[in-house]
Amino acid sequence: MSNRMWGGRFSSGPDAIMEEINASIGFDHRLYRQDIAGSIAHARMLAATGILTAQDRDAIVAGLEAVRAEIEHGTFTFSRALEDIHMNVESRLKELIGDAAGRLHTARSRNDQVATDFRLYVRDAIDTLDAQIKALQLALVTRAEAEADTIMPGFTHLQSAQPVSLGHHLMAYVEMLGRDAGRLKDARARLNESPLGAAALAGTSFPVDRHMTAAELGFDRPAANSLDAVSDRDFVLETLAAAAICAVHLSRFAEELVIWSSAQFGFIRLSDKFSTGSSIMPQKRNPDAAELVRAKIGRILGALASLLVVMKGLPLAYSKDMQEDKEVAFDALDALSLSLAAMTGMVGDLTVNRERMREAASAGFSTATDVADWLVRVADVPFREAHHITGRVVALAEQRGIGLESLTIEDFKAIDARIDSRIHAVLGVENSVRSRTSYGGTAPDNVRAQAALWREALTGKKAEPRKVARPSGHGDGLE
Ligand code: ARG
Repeated sequence: MSNRMWGGRFSSGPDAIMEEINASIGFDHRLYRQDIAGSIAHARMLAATGILTAQDRDAIVAGLEAVRAEIEHGTFTFSRALEDIHMNVESRLKELIGDAAGRLHTARSRNDQVATDFRLYVRDAIDTLDAQIKALQLALVTRAEAEADTIMPGFTHLQSAQPVSLGHHLMAYVEMLGRDAGRLKDARARLNESPLGAAALAGTSFPVDRHMTAAELGFDRPAANSLDAVSDRDFVLETLAAAAICAVHLSRFAEELVIWSSAQFGFIRLSDKFSTGSSIMPQKRNPDAAELVRAKIGRILGALASLLVVMKGLPLAYSKDMQEDKEVAFDALDALSLSLAAMTGMVGDLTVNRERMREAASAGFSTATDVADWLVRVADVPFREAHHITGRVVALAEQRGIGLESLTIEDFKAIDARIDSRIHAVLGVENSVRSRTSYGGTAPDNVRAQAALWREALTGKKAEPRKVARPSGHGDGLE
């Protein structure tokens, strides 16, 4: 009979409640490959150190491989009564090979087992994310190469500031993603120590060879302190922190795709594959995939915050609280992986409206800084004064409702006699962009050079030598 005060839907009473709160098999079944790999390494080590006979080892290894095949073929029955992946696997092993299965858990505990499994899992996830980040970077580099000469407004405060190359804008994300990959790589290097053999918390009296299992599982070394080995989850936290930063980058880019694809901007068109229509407004194309990427940071940051709070104040060594590390981490790492895939797809499929971008880049007196710079460079005017003169030039153009390039030389001279016809060379957006040749600046040749370096880094191949296309027109004065 269920307790009326707190029984609720648990018709069979406290046992059912305990099973539900205690069991992790509903999610930690995802660790099966790592769990079986860890057990095989452990069994081999036990035999190599004389703790297990060769015969038992062979039966255990063959049995574990059979269990893995059952799970992979979907014929394995997971049982919640058996709590977690570790006991589900071991119990099935016993059914398959009999008593020898009971010797596998010698000199081991579920505490070092789960710490090992999860490290292996997170390591695999990092490797997948790394490959996905590189794929997105390559998609961006490919776009940047194609759009090095495409002029768009560069923004500050989301107000047109100075014209930039679209390729340059895209390459900014390549740099961010490069650091994201670097952070994941750092986390991977620190996590790559084996907890196996730390046992429950204190180590073991059996003559285990922790270096052997560490090497077999691809770890750099065994973790040096058994208490630390079973009780820290900083490797998950660090990976989630790196994932959250990457998700922030993707969220910013996703937001730009949303803005750029709006009718008001009209800079890009996302492909049908990554857009949806409205059920009621036929004209609409909604950038749903970009919006969802923009939002995924919510759950990824949530996972980080959740696990930080779970770990806070936990006394050494293992506590069951730590079972709460997995669901949030699985969810967050899945979300980042999906976001990277969606972004790579969108970048590859979108179409750029170059005319619209250029038009927007020319609006808003975006070359005003170039006028001021020209006064400094050519007419030797101090920058502060040049800024003031340019303000008057902009005011005049604004009053007439025309762009800076439409002002006549007489107009300029009326404002400041030191200005001459050479000023026209800096008024066009192409010349403005092309003049920004400082290291890291937006000049198309810079963009092409950076894209080539990244292409080489990402593919290990040198970029094809190609003709550097120059934008047409406005070519005077700045070559
Ligand atoms: N399912 C557990 C977890 O994920 C495995 C370790 C259980 N250890 C224990 N002493 N109860 O944390």
